[in-house]
This record gives sequence, C-alpha cells and structure tokens, in this order.
Amino acid sequence: MSIKFNSKVGNIVAEKTEVIIFPFFEDHHEFTSEMGAIDKATSGLIRHVLNSGDFKGEFNTLSMVYTQGKIPTPRILLVGLGKKDRFNLEIMREAGGKGLKYLRDIGIKRIAIPGELIEANGFKKEDLIEAFLTGGSLGIYQFKDLITTEKDKIKNINECVVVVKRKEEAKTIKNIITFTTIITQAVYLARDLVSLPANKKTPTILANRAQAIAKRNRLRCKIINELQARKLGMGAFLSVAQGSQEPAKIIILEYNAGSSYGPPLVIIGKGITFDSGGISLKSPEKMEKMKNDMAGGAVVMGVVQAVAQMKLPVNLVGIIPATENLPGGRAYKPGDVLTSLSGQTIEVVSTDAEGRLILADALTYAHRFKPRAILDLATLTGACIIALGDHVAGIMGNDDSLIERVKVASEKTGEKVWQLPLWEEYFEYLKSDIADFKNVGERAAGPITGGMFLSKFVKGIPWVHIDIAGPTWLEKERPYIPKGASGFGVRLLLQLLRDWN
Ligand code: BES
Ligand code: ZN
Ligand code: ZN
Repeated sequence: MSIKFNSKVGNIVAEKTEVIIFPFFEDHHEFTSEMGAIDKATSGLIRHVLNSGDFKGEFNTLSMVYTQGKIPTPRILLVGLGKKDRFNLEIMREAGGKGLKYLRDIGIKRIAIPGELIEANGFKKEDLIEAFLTGGSLGIYQFKDLITTEKDKIKNINECVVVVKRKEEAKTIKNIITFTTIITQAVYLARDLVSLPANKKTPTILANRAQAIAKRNRLRCKIINELQARKLGMGAFLSVAQGSQEPAKIIILEYNAGSSYGPPLVIIGKGITFDSGGISLKSPEKMEKMKNDMAGGAVVMGVVQAVAQMKLPVNLVGIIPATENLPGGRAYKPGDVLTSLSGQTIEVVSTDAEGRLILADALTYAHRFKPRAILDLATLTGACIIALGDHVAGIMGNDDSLIERVKVASEKTGEKVWQLPLWEEYFEYLKSDIADFKNVGERAAGPITGGMFLSKFVKGIPWVHIDIAGPTWLEKERPYIPKGASGFGVRLLLQLLRDWN
C-alpha cells in the first residue's frame, strides 16, 4: 500500500488531521503566513520551541510539538532544512523522506502539509511541494509482500493532504499530485520487482507483469520467446539463456503517443533475473544480491508505465532481454564463440559478463524501430561500483548532446551520473584471436570496456549506456531511499523524457 496524496482548499489552522508538517531553515526563522497563523493560534508555541534552542532547523533534525487542543490538529512536526544558502530540491526530498518515515514509525496514518512549504528564493512553490511529496513517498517505501506473520505490525501512512489557501492554487497542486503519484508509483514498481527473489520473478513472470502493465495502460506488449529469438538469430542472448531451465523472454513494451511525435526513443534494460556467473561461477558471498541484476529491466517497466500514464508527447519503446544466468549441463562456456544478431562474432572469455551479451542483441534489435536515440540501463559491472561507489551511475555513449540531456535530467532528480570516456583505444582490450571480439578485457577499465563492447552494436544512432551497478542497491538507507532496491534511473529517465521536446 502506498500513500495517497490529496489536495484541498482551506485554512491549515482549522485542518483536523493527525500531524501538520512545517519545514524550517536553520538560519532564517521568519514564518510563512501559515506558520505564523499556527503560531498565533497556539499562543506562540512554535516560536517557543525555536527560542528554546532544542530545535534549530539543522538539516536532518526533527521536532514534534503538541498543540494541546489549541488547534484541531494535535501535533506539528518541524523538519529542519539546514542553512538557506545551501538549500536545494534534494534537501527538500530528503526532508520529506526523513519526516514521513519518522511519522510512519510512530504510527501516524494521516498528515497535512501547507501548500506554501517555505519561502526560498529561486524555487517555485510547486517544485518545493513536488520534491517534498516525492521524497516523502519514496522514503516510506517498504517491501513487505512476502511477510506473512504479524502483518498488523506493518505501519503505513495512508494519506497526505496538501492544504492550499486559494482555489486558483488547487489546480496546480492537483497536477503536481497526479504527476508525483505516477512517478513514485513507477519507482515503487521498479523497487518491488528488484526486491522480489529470483524464484518469484522468472522471465516468464516478468513477461506476464509487462503484459498486465500494457493492458492497464493501453500499451503494446510483445514477448519474443526462445524459438522466435532463434529464428531471428539472437545467438548472444540465447547462449546466456542456455544454462537455465527457465524459458528466456525478450519483453517489448511500446507506448505510442502518435506518429506526429516522430521516431521513438528506445530504452533497454538488462533483465538478468539471477546472475550466478554461469560456468564462470561467482563466489557465494553475497550471491543472493544477484537477484538485482534485472534492475535495468525493472526501471524500463516503470518508465514505460509512467510515460503512458502521463501521456507524454514522445514515442517510446522499452526492451527487456530477460533470462537467468546459470551453470548447467547445456550452459555456454568460456571459449565458446557466439554469433550475435548483428552477425558479429563474440568469443566468451567469462560467462559472468553476460549482461553485455544479452544487451548486444537487444541493441541490434532496437535498430528496427529506427529510433532517434537509444538508452540502456544495466547493472553491468562490479568495477563501476569500485570506480564510482553507490551514489553514482557511470554513463558513456556516442553522442554528446544525448549525454548532456542525461546530465541535465540527473541534476534535476538528484540521481547522480558521471561520464566515463569511450575512446577507441579501449577496444584494444577486447580484441580476440578467433572472433570479432571478446566479451571481457583485462581488469583495467572494467565499466568502459563494458560500454565499449556495447558500442559495437550501435550503428549511427545516438546512444547512452548507464551502468547502474552501484546505485541500484543500497546497503544502508538514505533519507528517501530505504535499504535495498533504490529504483535508481526511473526518475532520471522520466525527467529526460518530460524535457525531451
Ligand atoms: N551483474 C554483474 C555486475 C555486478 C556485480 C552488478 C556486482 C552489481 C554488483 C555482471 O554481470 C558481472 O558479473 N560483471 C562482471 C564482468 C567481468 C567478468 C568483466 C564483473 O563485474 O565482475
Ligand atoms: Zn555476470
Ligand atoms: Zn550480470
């Protein structure tokens, strides 16, 4: 169950709910008119708390104030934003996450916020609300679908009402609520899929989920099965699938805004539902985490769903090559030479570098749509985590303006990216003696050789590869990203698509 946002026109002082939230700067304690009104109605309660020094508005601090019957709502939560000159929307998202998580954990179910959260120069009221709601909703995400005992102990905030003063504002706020709900639902979907264990998200199950999403949102959904993939010549994809008993699928979701919107963008997501490494078996330590190797695919599902729900004026195709990577009697082996859909041959050096193999065929297949651009998201290399850590995705590609678009979107959503070079020199590492190239190089420049490999399957189309191995899964929670699946990339791609034209 996720939180429901609502809006209403009224006076927040008269609002009757469980808690009203007010964010505060550390060094600027002047009140917005609504805070002032509450302060007045409570005989200076908020001023009293600030004067006490117990709550200074420092970033990441909270203070609950009890109104003792002076206004209909019994509690006010003050949320610290830190110094005003360091403020940005990421801080607002974090404040939303921090505040709502605290309230959720003490058992609060209904909350309200004022339409005017704070006065911050250079920030639009609407953007502040959107950031707060986004962070709040994402912060209280939890994956409890597989818990069966003590279900009644699972806490959740059911409703957050945005109280606006004037009728004219209500429409804008409604719009923000609609968009924020669609976007956060898409992140929830991606997090849910990544959180699921591999036995509950086989390629077949993912394909069924995609079909259900398509049905609900009037999308086209096409599933390519192994037989069809064989006929097409997807030798790289099928080789990875060989070791598993689970039938592999290529999932294609198409959103059609209309032919006047031009050729589609294609987004491709790596869909390895479990990566054991195959014959090049991974070490057992943390292998259970390798259920998250379909995070790119999960992002694609979330993004296509949201784009359809927002009815964005852009044509979009999502492609998810989905398979397990397992060792088995029929598994592909180091040394095997595969013929990819592009016709290019690949010498397998490690069966654990399977992502680039399935993506290679998906990239080639994407050319059928004559796309104006291709973006792929993949938990492609452990080396990307070593290089950049878990706050940042590595990006690389063949087109500066597309890369720039990704960077601009990233600045807005707070999903950090860092560009790595794709210089031809790196291709040296992938030269093979018996095939067109190998699937891995040396240890050097791991994320780049991965990107370099993929680049060989892109012909004359702007393309960006996003290696999300780091930020996809968090070992420690952040203000609006719980421990585990982050859904990284959903908001990033949605921002890019919203800004496309
Ligand atoms: N799925 C992994 C990459 C990965 C590792 C993602 C850890 C998240 C956490 C990928 O398929 C893989 O195994 N890559 C190899 C590539 C190597 C063989 C060139 C890796 O990173 O070790
Ligand atoms: Zn692997
Ligand atoms: Zn993998």
